[in-house]
Amino acid sequence: MNIPRKHITTLGQFIIERQAEFPYAKGELSRLLRDIGIASKVVNREVNKAGLVDILGDAGSVNVQGESVKKLDVFANEQFIAALSSGGECCAIASEENEEIIPIQNKVSGDAKYIVAIDPLDGSSNIDVNVSIGTIFSIYRRKSGSGPGREEDFFQEGTQQVAAGYVTYGSSTMLVYTTGHGVNGFTLDPSIGEFCLSHQAMQIPKHGKIYSINEGNYSRFPEGVKKFVRYCQEEETSSGRPFSSRYIGSLVADFHRNLIKGGIFIYPPTAKTPRGKLRLLYECNPLAFIAEQAGGKASDGSKRILSLHPAALHERTPLFIGSEELVKKAEECMQKYSPVAV
Ligand code: AHG
Ligand code: MN
Ligand code: MN
Repeated sequence: MNIPRKHITTLGQFIIERQAEFPYAKGELSRLLRDIGIASKVVNREVNKAGLVDILGDAGSVNVQGESVKKLDVFANEQFIAALSSGGECCAIASEENEEIIPIQNKVSGDAKYIVAIDPLDGSSNIDVNVSIGTIFSIYRRKSGSGPGREEDFFQEGTQQVAAGYVTYGSSTMLVYTTGHGVNGFTLDPSIGEFCLSHQAMQIPKHGKIYSINEGNYSRFPEGVKKFVRYCQEEETSSGRPFSSRYIGSLVADFHRNLIKGGIFIYPPTAKTPRGKLRLLYECNPLAFIAEQAGGKASDGSKRILSLHPAALHERTPLFIGSEELVKKAEECMQKYSPVAV
């Protein structure tokens, strides 16, 4: 029996079709996104093999954040750097794994227009235990005129992002991205090696019923966060409380679940880490852009994440992100019980 095949749109086709959204675009951004897509397929291949080959465990070095680096982090970092350096559209990279920016001298097209901030492997503590991990990326237009990009190029507010996305290597591998015209998700079909459009015009539910926070740190939370957590746990039929607590420990995976089901992810400031843990440039800004494009909200507890002005490459910020209603409620709790000193 002949079963008619449903029409498939691959990531490559989709990017080309959408190029028309950028009236003056000459295809550079499309090529850049395509390069990231290809590198993520290579990383995906290694992630899938992680249990088989001797790629697990500490690589024996410590990254700029003082955390131990897994071999897969190093591999992913190398893949993205190689793809972006040879692709010809990127003039500098800021990566979680490199203290300084990686300036790119462009041999192919002279002066490339874009800079990329990237967390090549997010959730690295989950590699060894076969739990979802991810990649997060953020793309800006350079500010400097020509030659390799400079560090100052990265000190732009999140509102200036031209594209952002993530890849989640989970029960299936997905790439989700935005160029400021909505959010679309692509699932990797391993049999044809292509990301295929599977989640068009993604919208985060306004009222989520999931909260994601590392409650092990409860005693160190500011009072506003404690109050919000207790609010999530209270009994109230009309609002569907108590909510469910879900925490994977991979930002990408926690964010992705909440994007689809509705919910809030919080990495708050704590007494020990007053700026939280997550990095503004390559973790919070790209996901904030996606959240807003999907109808959600992202805040540092009082201010919009996308309005923060970065002053350092690896700067951290508290993060409250997800369904609009829940983020607003968390902000209210922060304002009332943990107001920011002005
Ligand atoms: P990375 O693996 O890139 O260093 O990021 C880890 C981050 C993030 O993915 C996750 O949400 C968070 O760390 C978890 O932190 P805790 O273990 O402190 O909850
Ligand atoms: Mn990370
Ligand atoms: Mn990482």
